[in-house]
Amino acid sequence: MSATLHVKVSAARMLTPLIRELTLSPAAGPLPAWSAGSHIQLHLPLAKRTARNAYSLTGNPGERSHYRIAVRLDEASRGGSRHLHQQLQVGDRLTISPPANLFALHAPARHHLLIAGGIGITPFMAHIAALEQRGASFDLHYAYRGGLSDAYLSDLSSRLGPHLHRYDARRGQRLNLAAVLSQQPLGSHVYTCGPQALLDGVREQARACGWPDSRVHREAFSAAAPGQPFRLQLARSGQTLEVAGEQSLLEALEAAGLDVPNLCRGGVCGQCVTRHLGGVIEHRDHFLAPPEQLEFLMPCVSRGCGQTLVLDL
Ligand code: FES
Repeated sequence: MSATLHVKVSAARMLTPLIRELTLSPAAGPLPAWSAGSHIQLHLPLAKRTARNAYSLTGNPGERSHYRIAVRLDEASRGGSRHLHQQLQVGDRLTISPPANLFALHAPARHHLLIAGGIGITPFMAHIAALEQRGASFDLHYAYRGGLSDAYLSDLSSRLGPHLHRYDARRGQRLNLAAVLSQQPLGSHVYTCGPQALLDGVREQARACGWPDSRVHREAFSAAAPGQPFRLQLARSGQTLEVAGEQSLLEALEAAGLDVPNLCRGGVCGQCVTRHLGGVIEHRDHFLAPPEQLEFLMPCVSRGCGQTLVLDL
């Protein structure tokens, strides 16, 4: 089992009507150090299951006296964000997993182009602090819905001046990816966090503009979506499990006592890869190539449908 940390909610505030910021302080001693782009997993005791949701750390990466996250309320989610918005109070205790970084800055980049969509701003709050400390060259392009998903906008506006480029969908302002990506100095790296359509758009436009893939970095912040219940069979142990509609396959395995490696819990890091042996699978990950999906699945997001799903576990 990976190590866990115990924290308590020491402050909470609404950044917008949809986004709640939580400050988490250690139950004892300083917290582990972390680097810009890191995320933590919150272990959330919900009514029928324990959810483990990943959230980017915001703020100053040197900070060990507390961690700070911002959570967007997603009514269509499986309950994690609702719990964090509507039930979690200042003073409550939480178990978390230590920080892991899947979205680090590329140190020698000549220029850093940061592209955020809505709640995707959160890892960039730490990136920006790190880039400012280094005196590095960067620009932030921030697409949001004014008054709803524009967290930290006034802070960024006064801090970044002309290096902040704002796109408010409510005013019809659109981010022109082709124009932005074609105007960057050679040796730039681009970082994107936000909805899948934005991540895909940046990758496609970057390729069209001749950017090498090695200079295009992305972080998806999506969590597993609910689906239909299904039955699971573990070939090695002979165990049969029922996976509820609100539960991910990974959560069902964890509830049965299996320790499956994982980092992102969103189908992008590749840590939870598992061999399947039978059944029909709804692959929802962004990691496996189609030929690999014939043999493997990512249980943090993917699900069985219809027949019993058989795993090599
Ligand atoms: S935990 Fe990252 S892909 Fe499953």
